Amino acid sequence: MIANETLKIIKQRRSIRSFKDEQIREEELQAMLEAGLYAPYAWEQGRHFTVIQNKKLLDRLNLAAKEAAKQMDMEHFRNLGNNEKFNCLYDAPTLIIVSGNEQAPIPLEADCAAATENLLLAAESMGLGSCWIFFVLLAFNSPQGSELRKELKIPDGYKPYYSAVFGYKKAAAVNVPDRKPNLITYVR
Ligand SMILES: Cc1cc2nc3c(=O)[nH]c(=O)nc-3n(C[C@H](O)[C@H](O)[C@H](O)COP(=O)(O)O)c2cc1C
Repeated sequence: MIANETLKIIKQRRSIRSFKDEQIREEELQAMLEAGLYAPYAWEQGRHFTVIQNKKLLDRLNLAAKEAAKQMDMEHFRNLGNNEKFNCLYDAPTLIIVSGNEQAPIPLEADCAAATENLLLAAESMGLGSCWIFFVLLAFNSPQGSELRKELKIPDGYKPYYSAVFGYKKAAAVNVPDRKPNLITYVR
């Protein structure tokens, strides 16, 4: 097996769902963003990163997402929305939303996903915890959605595709899902 620092970080990264209150350092944030910007893209300049480090705004996003979840068909989401203890951002001090330009001639989900993964790997490489978060984007479907979009200054014509939270790990990952070995077919 080849082992190097990059492969180690990729395997080591796990979703972290428990964070210290302390904010991450500015140079750690900048290093993550740079890694995000260097991710591959299909459409140049099609991505936008929104960094949210304002506790009140993070709390409002959590509450708005939970309100929207209460209206969803899937029971799992309704239960989370109704669970008073659940914070969809896990009290992390930093949230980054990656949005894609909807005017691009091709959908930019893949561009935004590649950037999000780079953010996570960069975070792990610096010892930070991270978790990719779909749930909070439900906030944009809530009645407060357009107001939140404005406050977050998500550019017009951009769709928030993905997001992830970051912070110093309070606890190690629990219940790490197994990677099933039968997901690969070799045709040689
Ligand atoms: C598109 C996407 C959306 C996700 N949304 C959430 C989420 O809303 N909340 C959460 O706790 N984890 C979320 N995750 C994290 C996954 O649950 C996690 O990556 C998966 O269980 C594998 O665990 P690992 O990251 O520790 O390897 C999301 C992951 C992806 C790729």
